[in-house]
Amino acid sequence: MRKYRASFLLFLSTLLIIIFAYIAGNITISNIASSSEKYVVNLDGAYLSDSMHIIGDLKIFEEDEYSNLKYNCRLYNDMEHMLHNWHVFLVLEDSIKISGYENVSIKMVDSEENKTIYLMLPDIANKDLPANSYVDFAFTITRPYTSSFAIDDLTIIGSIYDYPILYIIHIIVYVAFLIWGACLLIYIFRNFNIKEYRKRQEKDEQIIIQAMDTFISFVDAKDTYTRGHSKRVAMYAKEIATRMKLPKDEVQNIYYVGLLHDVGKISIPDAVLNKPGCLTDEERLIIQSHTTAGGNMLKNFTSIKGVREGALYHHERYDGKGYPEGLSGEDIPLYARIICVADSYDAMSSSRVYRRHLNRDEIIEELKNCTGTQFDPNIVGYMIEMIVDGYVNIVKTEVARDDDEIKNEKQ
Ligand SMILES: [Fe+2]
Repeated sequence: MRKYRASFLLFLSTLLIIIFAYIAGNITISNIASSSEKYVVNLDGAYLSDSMHIIGDLKIFEEDEYSNLKYNCRLYNDMEHMLHNWHVFLVLEDSIKISGYENVSIKMVDSEENKTIYLMLPDIANKDLPANSYVDFAFTITRPYTSSFAIDDLTIIGSIYDYPILYIIHIIVYVAFLIWGACLLIYIFRNFNIKEYRKRQEKDEQIIIQAMDTFISFVDAKDTYTRGHSKRVAMYAKEIATRMKLPKDEVQNIYYVGLLHDVGKISIPDAVLNKPGCLTDEERLIIQSHTTAGGNMLKNFTSIKGVREGALYHHERYDGKGYPEGLSGEDIPLYARIICVADSYDAMSSSRVYRRHLNRDEIIEELKNCTGTQFDPNIVGYMIEMIVDGYVNIVKTEVARDDDEIKNEKQ
């Protein structure tokens, strides 16, 4: 996102520079010199100004009903400066047509009161006329004998650059404008692609969440005492990660890890998993094996970062007295440390057959007591914050509502 914001700022600043340079360039040029002289044509050495003139000769080819008049012209730039973008306006009676031209292109630009205005533009190679040089061009007109022949006027217009730097500025502005246009196209194209990508990403995320919801419903169906546990743990863990200001993609990852953290319970026999009352040592070991079973099940699930570690290590303790490997401190992956706090809160706040749930103050007390022993001291504070500001109740209500909706759909 930051990258696109930078591109946009670059794009905007380039545009402003171009506009500024263009305005500045034009003002400077027009302030120094701009030539727009009107010339009544006889094409016989007449002067446009002290510094520009045309000489020309006329050839007439008579035909049955028409005469063709070819004007061979030579435009002189007698100045010490370049004549840039020169062009010629020619006004003819409507009955007179242009039938040929050389070194220029001619197009009709306007017509008024039986007269047509033509614009003659030099070929690209002759667009700029250096100091003390000339350019040749020619045009032919065809007129009917019946018309009274008159070329009303011929106007030559061009910009004169006093200093080469102004000419260079003009070139830079044009080049910058081309680059800006290209940037604009790229920006539009990329923006369109980003939108498409986001749409696809949202769809992919929806598929992942639905697949996981379905998957954890198998776990919930097996462990009747902990219905909604995985979803609540996922939501608590996600909120902890958000409050820890982890990057957005990590926050989403940790939600998935929370959903799948107890998936290993599928491998535990129902009689042990749902046994009311105290467990034997052997049964406790079987229950504890849901961590390694979950880690094994998820070892190939590499597209979501940390999902295997979350399932394998969420019963490790900060002081190293947990299971299955007895890892301690920051050797326990961060996702697993977060899940551990969220998981323990959910266990304490839910009733079991063999014990009632703890109240709010008892849970906070327990969380504080176990800080640094069972829980990472950098994480517990966020969980307590969520209890105090009531966020946990929002989660419980939401999960219970989802659960009811599923039940109603089944009925
Ligand atoms: Fe667990």
